[in-house]
Amino acid sequence: MATESVTASLNKLVATQGLLYIKLHQAHWYIKGPNFFDLHVKLEEYYDELTAQMDLTAERLLQLGGEPYSTLQEFIEHSVIKESAGDKNKKPEDMIEAVVSDFEIYRDELGEGIDLFDDASDDVTVDILTEQKREVDKVIWMLWAYLGKDALGN
Ligand SMILES: [Fe+2]
Repeated sequence: MATESVTASLNKLVATQGLLYIKLHQAHWYIKGPNFFDLHVKLEEYYDELTAQMDLTAERLLQLGGEPYSTLQEFIEHSVIKESAGDKNKKPEDMIEAVVSDFEIYRDELGEGIDLFDDASDDVTVDILTEQKREVDKVIWMLWAYLGKDALGN
């Protein structure tokens, strides 16, 4: 069974997923330019996937005896991704670059979680987080490709 510090890391992940879910709405609403129709739809796909991931993470945390954060205030306090009101005024490419940067922070958080739960021999949580990281790695590669760069942003 996972220790308290391990479940705390899963809760930080719930907060991060919740905040990224909101930030993706901001980009979905405020993105502009000739690629509006494609990007608007793509960002909606991403936040739909994020809410499914948050739900899985929170319900796994409950199964481990934890109490997932469930208020916006808790998400803001505990997310490793931070809010940025000014992002809505960014040019389209800069806005997508901000989105991919957030996904990279999220990916790193998933990677840390995988290591922690692997050490705790919790194969089910490792499986959940690995599946989420697989999805996020793909999103990062595609967003960098959209910006004309390789998967590492070069
Ligand atoms: Fe919408």
